[in-house]
Amino acid sequence: MKAHYFWRGVAMAMLTALVAAMAPAMAADHLAPRQRMLFNDGWRFHLGDPDGNSAPYLYDIRPDVRQSADGKQADAMPEEAVRVARGQVALLKPWIMPTGNAFIKDPAKRYTRPANGPALVAPFAQAGFDDHSWRSVQLPHDWAIEGPFLTTGPYGGMGRLKTWGPAWYRKTLTLTAADQGKSVFLDIDGAMAYSSVWVNGQLAGGWPYGYNSFRIDLTPYVKAGADNQIAIRLDNTAESARWYPGAGLYRNVWLTKTAPLHVGHWGVHITTPQVSRASAQVAWQVTLDNDGNTPAEAELTTQLYALDDHGAISGAAVATVVTPRTPVPPGAGAVLHGAATIDKPRLWGPLPTQRPHRYVAVTTVRSGGRVVDKYETRFGIRSLRFDPNAGLYVNDEHIPIRGVNNHHDLGALGAAFNLRAAERQLTLLQEMGANAIRMSHNPPDPQLLELTDRMGMVVVDEVFDSWERKKTPLDFHLIFPDWHEQDLRAMLRRDRNHPSVVMWSVGNEVGEQYTGEAGADIGRKLAAIVHEEDPTRPTTNAMNWAQADMPLPTTVDVISLNYQGTGIRTLPGKFPMFRARFPDKVILHSESASAVSSRGEYQFPVPGVTSAAVRPGIGGDPKTMQVSAYELFAADFGSSADRAFAALDQNPYTAGEFVWTGFDYLGEPTPYYGARSAYTGIFDLAGFKKDRYYLYKSRWRPEEKTLHILPHWTWPERVGEVTPVHVFTSGDEAELFVNGKSQGRLKKAPYAYRLRWDYVVYEPGEISVVAYKDGKEWARSSVKTTGAPAALEATADRGVIAGDGKDLSFISVRVTDQLGATAPRASNRVRFTVEGPGELVATDNGDATSFASFQSPERAAFNGLALGIVRAKPGTAGAIKVRVTADGLRDAVVMVHSTVQASP
Ligand code: GAL
Repeated sequence: MKAHYFWRGVAMAMLTALVAAMAPAMAADHLAPRQRMLFNDGWRFHLGDPDGNSAPYLYDIRPDVRQSADGKQADAMPEEAVRVARGQVALLKPWIMPTGNAFIKDPAKRYTRPANGPALVAPFAQAGFDDHSWRSVQLPHDWAIEGPFLTTGPYGGMGRLKTWGPAWYRKTLTLTAADQGKSVFLDIDGAMAYSSVWVNGQLAGGWPYGYNSFRIDLTPYVKAGADNQIAIRLDNTAESARWYPGAGLYRNVWLTKTAPLHVGHWGVHITTPQVSRASAQVAWQVTLDNDGNTPAEAELTTQLYALDDHGAISGAAVATVVTPRTPVPPGAGAVLHGAATIDKPRLWGPLPTQRPHRYVAVTTVRSGGRVVDKYETRFGIRSLRFDPNAGLYVNDEHIPIRGVNNHHDLGALGAAFNLRAAERQLTLLQEMGANAIRMSHNPPDPQLLELTDRMGMVVVDEVFDSWERKKTPLDFHLIFPDWHEQDLRAMLRRDRNHPSVVMWSVGNEVGEQYTGEAGADIGRKLAAIVHEEDPTRPTTNAMNWAQADMPLPTTVDVISLNYQGTGIRTLPGKFPMFRARFPDKVILHSESASAVSSRGEYQFPVPGVTSAAVRPGIGGDPKTMQVSAYELFAADFGSSADRAFAALDQNPYTAGEFVWTGFDYLGEPTPYYGARSAYTGIFDLAGFKKDRYYLYKSRWRPEEKTLHILPHWTWPERVGEVTPVHVFTSGDEAELFVNGKSQGRLKKAPYAYRLRWDYVVYEPGEISVVAYKDGKEWARSSVKTTGAPAALEATADRGVIAGDGKDLSFISVRVTDQLGATAPRASNRVRFTVEGPGELVATDNGDATSFASFQSPERAAFNGLALGIVRAKPGTAGAIKVRVTADGLRDAVVMVHSTVQASP
């Protein structure tokens, strides 16, 4: 047994902080003998099991699902059980469970691996199997995003891409003779889902939950000085999610080699118990594992360094602390503690008012007079305070939460994580004034937290969407009893050093809201685990149904309300009731709005209300599955952005909001389940701004002179018809002119967030608006009737990208008229061709109803816009020429340069 937090061989050490000028930090290759390298290249991939449809393996028997349609289903007696009983299918659970042992606190509850392997070893898992005809893939890889889109329903909420069924990945791991005696680990940042990892034909372990990161200890199964065969089987189930989960080895996979005595998995935990601008205390706990069979003595040195904006070490160590020698018994671990005081710390804090400074702790382990391990842990120094009258304080500054919920998919790229695509999303959100992300509803790719740390956004990290009560027939509820502790502790240990994480959410709208004390018991159990693993941050649990006088809200530190804070449908908002019952707890709007719209689709008539549900002919068209872009419409339980703003302003003690959602996402296309993607984003699936963007920007960045007019003004069929004009501005007053004629000057009423002229009669020409703030002119803008589509215009978000095959340039294409104005209804078919050392990765247009393949180089513009995503071929530098063409339109060309860094 290894990796003990609990509590064999715990050693406490009395420590002295030595603050000293130290030599500059060493480059990564001096961190030997620990080696941690990406293990993403050279995989072979196969969809399906060896014998086609009948799977040789199951993690466990699952209920059969019958007559499933949008949440209404009947579980039937599992037919799988019969195949298991006949010996046709092997259940893998007994070999998978021990992988989670390090996260089970009670030693008596840990699992013992069966003495022998499973009865069946599929040919794909065997070392001798010839996989050269399999497809070569590079990780991260989401096989489901390639489609094709399903053509027959019901589709459920998982989107119209097939994500279920078994899939295999194989790769050779070559170990040299020098690896003899080392511990060898495969660190998988996420595998969707029910992974089983086979090494040289033996089942080494696996992890069912597709969103967590996990480690497989390969040591007992590999040979040094030889080729070793890794085979990973994934077994996504249908009906496993309410959204598109993705499929495959969709995050990074790492190979880690260490000496037998080494820092354990996620083995350093750093806290900052005391923080001021003058000085800060940094404390750490280091878990050492001794995988060897002889007793070891460890001496630990911890050095703290400041990091620069790019995450590189800058300057000398600001603290160096040496612990006395500590015995670490064989096959066991030791936990050591240390602390240091740093003068004038560079604090981590969210933009725009603070800077996200970071540090790194370099832990050096010495044994027998030599360095056996070096391990780096990034962290930030900052204080958090939660005030029931205002919400979040970071470093004693009040930070109103201006956040969005984000799902894990990256639109056309699917669930395969891409750092640049995620960075682009965060940049767009920050430009709008967002300072926070809720990871709905699962642990994110670890690199996303690296980004939120670096870019200065605060995070609610969330672990589950369901507990014991299901939301879809085969979701996490099936394994909650066996895995909730391991999954929760794994997320906490992985993520707790990130300064951006300010709160842990143990659930989202779980069915246990309805089960009184029984549900609250589970809530208390999860909250206790959080407090054990991290005493420094509060717990929360997003509730859309539990009322203030029910048991579940008593189990969390922060009350998170989804929608019921604003008020669901005509029900009054529930903030005051929770406030009255929990005057000492912070209240957060963990999901607000769920406003729906299709970019650029304005539908008439426009109701005079500020918030409405979509009904046939009001706000949405069931035939085209498009939702009006007037930004007044919401899911049945949701509200417009405006109504949520009012609820927050009328209850100023609230901590702020996480809008549902920042971006449209794959699956869950409320209100039209025949579509491919959601309508709730402030940005569409391609990352283009919807009108709502400017409503949020006006509120979240009041100092910016935002003035946005909707709709577009190209309505040949509406001459003489009432065509309302709405304005989103950070001003407080505005005057609208149609072809120079004033339509009146309007002032924002209390708790109103838009200016609206609802009786404007359309005539072609120009509408213009002058906005005022405090009586003075603030901004001017206008919209003109455009001519017929005549040309294309293409712009790259980045003109220079790394030639590493991963970095991306997002090419936005506008269809314009002769004068260069966007033709707002254009749907011309646009083609992308790439010349030079680059390639097209995907295309999109943000239309939730488009079923063109994301890999297609050709797609229709949606209301004037299309997107192409381009990368460089790995290892190549040079000029990449992206040409965009469409029949009858002038072409556009954009150049992107790829660069390759010389190796040091
Ligand atoms: C919420 C839920 C989200 C999403 C959203 C739909 O109730 O927590 O996951 O389903 O509604 O707009």
